[in-house]
Amino acid sequence: MHAPAPHLLRAQAIAADTRPGLRFLTCGSVDDGKSTLIGRLLYEQNLIFDDHLAALERDSRKHGTNGADIDFALLLDGLEAEREQGITIDVAYRYFATPRRSFIVADTPGHEQYTRNMATGASNADLAVLLVDARKGLLAQTRRHAIIASLLGIRYAVLAVNKIDLVDYDQAIFDGIAAAFAAFAAPLGFKDIRAIPISARDGDNVSSISANTPWYDGPDLLRYLETVDVEDDRAEKPFRLPVQWVNRPNLDFRGFAGTVASGSLVPGDEIAVLPSGQTSTVKAVISAGEEVEAAEAGDAVTVTLADEIDIARGDMIAAVRARPQVADQFAAHLVWMSAEKLMPGRSYLLKINHATLAATVTELKHKLDVNTLAKLAAKTLALNEVGVCNLSIARPIAFDAYADNRDTGAFILIDRSTNETVAAGMIDFALRRATNVHRQSLTVSKAERAQLMHHKPAVLWFTGLSGAGKSTIANLVEAGLHARGIHTLMLDGDNVRHGLNKDLGFTETDRVENIRRIGEVARLMTEAGLIVLCSFISPFRAERRLVRELVEEGEFIEIFVDTPLEQCIARDVKGLYRRALAGEIKNFTGIDQPYEGPENPELHLPAGEADPALLADQIIDELVRRKIF
Ligand code: ADX
Repeated sequence: MHAPAPHLLRAQAIAADTRPGLRFLTCGSVDDGKSTLIGRLLYEQNLIFDDHLAALERDSRKHGTNGADIDFALLLDGLEAEREQGITIDVAYRYFATPRRSFIVADTPGHEQYTRNMATGASNADLAVLLVDARKGLLAQTRRHAIIASLLGIRYAVLAVNKIDLVDYDQAIFDGIAAAFAAFAAPLGFKDIRAIPISARDGDNVSSISANTPWYDGPDLLRYLETVDVEDDRAEKPFRLPVQWVNRPNLDFRGFAGTVASGSLVPGDEIAVLPSGQTSTVKAVISAGEEVEAAEAGDAVTVTLADEIDIARGDMIAAVRARPQVADQFAAHLVWMSAEKLMPGRSYLLKINHATLAATVTELKHKLDVNTLAKLAAKTLALNEVGVCNLSIARPIAFDAYADNRDTGAFILIDRSTNETVAAGMIDFALRRATNVHRQSLTVSKAERAQLMHHKPAVLWFTGLSGAGKSTIANLVEAGLHARGIHTLMLDGDNVRHGLNKDLGFTETDRVENIRRIGEVARLMTEAGLIVLCSFISPFRAERRLVRELVEEGEFIEIFVDTPLEQCIARDVKGLYRRALAGEIKNFTGIDQPYEGPENPELHLPAGEADPALLADQIIDELVRRKIF
């Protein structure tokens, strides 16, 4: 019973000759009556098909909470699982239209842990309908929804004070809630806040003015939604075309295709291509296979240029005199959407304007208490938390601040191993620091340094549980290499933690940073031509991959020292397992923190019973086989 396609078709047909459609979002807590409200709106507009209505009547008797009457919530809470729980659990988009306007509604669930769904639904909405229960007034959730809506760039809010019938249509109660919300929302930057007393169940002020609230002289909800002018000002903004793909059917034609994010474009316009900064003029604008005289925000187009310039997916074509920012570091708000916490320093994939590139959160400045807007100190972000941070990306790209452009200033972060979208981001501003620091070009190259050494540089990365024997084996390997006249350096967990990384502990985030720094040091040492032996638990795949990608192909040799946990516990050389098992040491790998074994190590050493000296020889043989020396 989810939004049937005919609604969409009808919405589109009607939209063709009326004002621009309105995208809105409904938010409220579990029992505030969101679904009932939308169901009632559809019903009163005769937008429910007869067969759906019959099913609805049947379902109302079976699952309904409204006696013999129709329970409109059931129309929307389409999924059986949801009905069983009596709550809505995901974002659902619905399309409907009245003779005046077409609507797209994102219906997002209200309970606390679903902030992320709201972020998904709100990202392109113009207006938020915030439902409150007149009997309960403003709840923490109402405040949170308002804050997130404002953060996501929504500038219009309706405070639907529902269940007004249950407080005897009391004006004082309504006025009190409206005033409290206005005071709370003042700093959130809404252009218009409209409070409307309604009863979603009985229909008061939903799509007609109710006789029960003679003291209310505003429009009913539907009338307000039909007439509110949300000023789509995208067309007035500077021209932006994020390039989605390069269309090159033959040698004579090269077009750049994408959807115009803002502004407008006519042939002859001067444009710049970012990040390269090359300029040209627009030769032709093609839409739906035909040359057109102009294109504007929202149009899908292909553009050809007067000059041959190199443009790839992820580049941005922009107005030459109002260019976007270009940087490889920026400050942003992040809404964390994964059960796996944010790891500052970890490499994620960032997708923005059709570009996908490696990114790390270099600094988490604070998280926001979404109930009060207070800034809280934080080392990580958990599911549904909102933080302000600095990010660094693999190469400079073009973007705008989210406040200036919600299309070109928004991005997502993706976990590289699970491909899960872990965060939605909104760029605040570019950081100039890195742009002003240029790499010094050096006369002596890495290869030349290596030549003096008579062997290739390499990183021997020993990973495994505490007590697996990593350092013992690494130590033997280093001795063996040294005896062969090879230049080495040993980086060992316990030692590095006394110096370079003495500010770091063993939380997951600190371990990520530990390995990130070690990786940078190891890379520098390969520049010096050394064979670097790194002995760290390094429990996470993501960071081992990070180091692998820092050095050149073939230089990273991952050695999995695979000793079963029981054996490490039995050895317990430092007595740490005993203490960890007694609960005296927290975050101990293998005990109360995970160890992610390598999937494809260069060497997998079952080290439990083996003689370390033989294992060391095996490693040295492997280096010979790989022609390191
Ligand atoms: S890593 O996970 O960040 O790579 P690292 O190899 O640097 O760890 O340090 C591990 C060493 O720190 C262990 O060999 C052990 O001696 C010591 N240690 C102290 N507390 C812990 C802990 N909670 N978990 C693991 N090792 C610990």
